[in-house]
Amino acid sequence: MHIYLNNAATTYPKPPAVARAMADFVERGGANLSRGSASDRDLNSMNVVLNCREALCEFFGCEDSEFVTFTSNVTHSLNMVLKGYLRPGMRVLTTSMEHNSVTRPLRSLEAGGVEVVFIPCDDEGYLRTDDLARELAKKHTDLVVLSYASNVCGAVQDVPAISRLCASDGVPLVLDAAQAAGHMAIDVRELGCDALCFTGHKGLFGPQGTGGVIWKPSFAHICVPLMEGGTGSFSHEDVQPDAMPDKFEAGTPNMPGIAGLHAALEFICAEGLENIVRREHELGAMLLNGLREIEDITIYGPRSDRPRVPVIAMNFHDIDNARAAHILSTRYGIETRPGIHCSPIAHRTLGSFPQGALRLSPGYFNTDEEIEYVIRTIRTLADM
Ligand code: ALA
Repeated sequence: MHIYLNNAATTYPKPPAVARAMADFVERGGANLSRGSASDRDLNSMNVVLNCREALCEFFGCEDSEFVTFTSNVTHSLNMVLKGYLRPGMRVLTTSMEHNSVTRPLRSLEAGGVEVVFIPCDDEGYLRTDDLARELAKKHTDLVVLSYASNVCGAVQDVPAISRLCASDGVPLVLDAAQAAGHMAIDVRELGCDALCFTGHKGLFGPQGTGGVIWKPSFAHICVPLMEGGTGSFSHEDVQPDAMPDKFEAGTPNMPGIAGLHAALEFICAEGLENIVRREHELGAMLLNGLREIEDITIYGPRSDRPRVPVIAMNFHDIDNARAAHILSTRYGIETRPGIHCSPIAHRTLGSFPQGALRLSPGYFNTDEEIEYVIRTIRTLADM
């Protein structure tokens, strides 16, 4: 028996078309982007990137595919946006549920003179919009950045309400959608966010090493690039071009990864995002309801039916979570992730710091039988 319950770290398995597209690109395409002689192979590479860019644009409701930037992961995306926009003297608001991919760049910017305010969330992991409104009213604010869905406990923030507050004060909103993209419908224009940072290898079912930023055009224009270098365009100039998408895409992109990500997006469209989301929620609810009946464990995060993605953090009362993960993996074939999940402040907020928690994150390819087996196994361990 092998059961993968670590989809919050990366989804597995990937749809078979992902590996096929990547292998096909390496074996039969393989040309660099805009750095050739316009051969058929060069044109194929341009199309691989263009098609994926357009698919992402449509998937996220972006205005114009030029404002889709490819990165290697969501950490890269967040660094690009935060360091591209924030300057000494500016003030940024964030929450106490962030991943280190937000916290660490902000701490580094803080050391350089940016004022960073971490607004405490409640102990279920939710930002109270009144608290955000109070912070916005206190002092001029330049940016709000927060994770859409928690990678620790699955709590989904009320982004439409947060976005309305930001818009009424004219404050740009940046979203870390690492745990949200592919787990819910996201339309950036409807949400009104200025930059949505995503990764390709989680809910989008793409390969590791892919990700990106979906920009509001006016916001992209005022950010400076994180990196400068070759773009295969404007090569006669010795400064980074301002034209999108080249402005933020210096260096050879991850072409096989982009080919794989496009195949993954096609899989999502063919299955129907709403069907994927519904099935993930069914599996998550089944697991959560089963766990809630077990004594001698603590479940962290959303206690009622508040909005969430299927990411569950728990601890046995008598077994350390790292040991529990080891037992589940070696004796029962169940893969999970213990510890702090790169989110120490989230664990502090939820009351699971410093020990961390055992995280169970089912995915689209799990079966009902697998979830039943996991519940039975956790009950057995809790009763020992
Ligand atoms: N951020 C990812 C996780 O939560 C890798 O596991």
